Amino acid sequence: VIEDLTGLHETAEFPVGVAIDARETVGGPSTLLTRHFNQVTHENHMKPEAWYDDEGNFRPHEQALTVLDFARDNDLRVYGHVLVWHSQTPAWFFQDAEGQPLTTSAAHQQVLRDRLRTHIFNVAESLSDRYGPFGSPTNPLYAWDVVNEVVSDSGEHADGLRRSEWYRILGESFIDLSFEYAHEAFNDVHAVSGSDPVTLFINDYNTEQSGKQTRYRALVQRLLDRDVPIDGVGHQFHVSLATPVSSLQSTLESFAELPLTQAVTELDVTTGTPVTQARLIEQGYFYRDAFRIFREHTDDLFAVTVWGLTDGRSWRSANAPLLFDDNLRAKPAYHGAVDGELPA
Ligand code: G3I
Repeated sequence: VIEDLTGLHETAEFPVGVAIDARETVGGPSTLLTRHFNQVTHENHMKPEAWYDDEGNFRPHEQALTVLDFARDNDLRVYGHVLVWHSQTPAWFFQDAEGQPLTTSAAHQQVLRDRLRTHIFNVAESLSDRYGPFGSPTNPLYAWDVVNEVVSDSGEHADGLRRSEWYRILGESFIDLSFEYAHEAFNDVHAVSGSDPVTLFINDYNTEQSGKQTRYRALVQRLLDRDVPIDGVGHQFHVSLATPVSSLQSTLESFAELPLTQAVTELDVTTGTPVTQARLIEQGYFYRDAFRIFREHTDDLFAVTVWGLTDGRSWRSANAPLLFDDNLRAKPAYHGAVDGELPA
């Protein structure tokens, strides 16, 4: 039974998205989804490793296409996640033909640049073959997290970047190249001509925390200084009731002066355990205040995505971090997000 409630997306001027897999495209979950959200993100099935079979052959994952078809058929936008990441990427990306780690020799750097470019172009080509060029009405994909989690969690390195395999072999240049290849593939070669239909984001977590935020902002500024074709800054906002909600506001403000759009890409709010009624109500107030902040930033917010539809499907399910419970019932978190009535 889906309750007759105001659609969350009707309460905001920016698209409101949700992370899903094929399970949310059928039955009750799909009804709940289309009532409250007008955008979707693949929680796992467009990550780098999802595009390859066990032999390393490129092919779209069946669940990626199920979600894209569902989006196309229901007028939902797709915010893509993720082209380049240090995690959930096949190990062979960073190995030579003998299975040894690539070195930083010029030849090995070229091998990795070619793999990066080929991956991004294969994704663009396979999707445009099926859905038409980007920017055409049958193609629902309109944004990508181009690079994910490239900023270091510590301040020990002057450039503030994560020491990943991408970084070890190519240095900071892998970030520039990722955006350049993505721009060429999604906004030129496979796009409706004369448009830039796909908005290209950098994405990271803990950007509401001061150290990470400073390193993130410095990197984004360097990309802008180098004329890298980046369009937006993503904030995952995997937060908890201990997070000052005002930090979400100050984060959006600190990036607002840049000539870029911003997105909240993976919102969820853990309650702490045990999950009590009092904590669920407190969570309702947190979501209320967070969405109030987002609505105030309508001018520079591209979209807000909640990282899952129902609590049991969350990567942090023990902490009931989402808007709906496993019976598809709205929690206080939903009522807060739509700025409705909350118990005292
Ligand atoms: O599909 C296999 C299944 O066949 C197997 O039986 C099962 C056993 O563990 O694993 C399944 O894969 C899991 C996959 O989710 C699909 O459920 C992986 O183990 C598990 O690691 C994976 O977790 C995902 C995680 O990213 C991986 O890093 C979460 O669902 C997903 O919510 C999470 O999302 C990330 C974002 O991509 C980036 N930002 C942080 C965010 C939360 O960690």
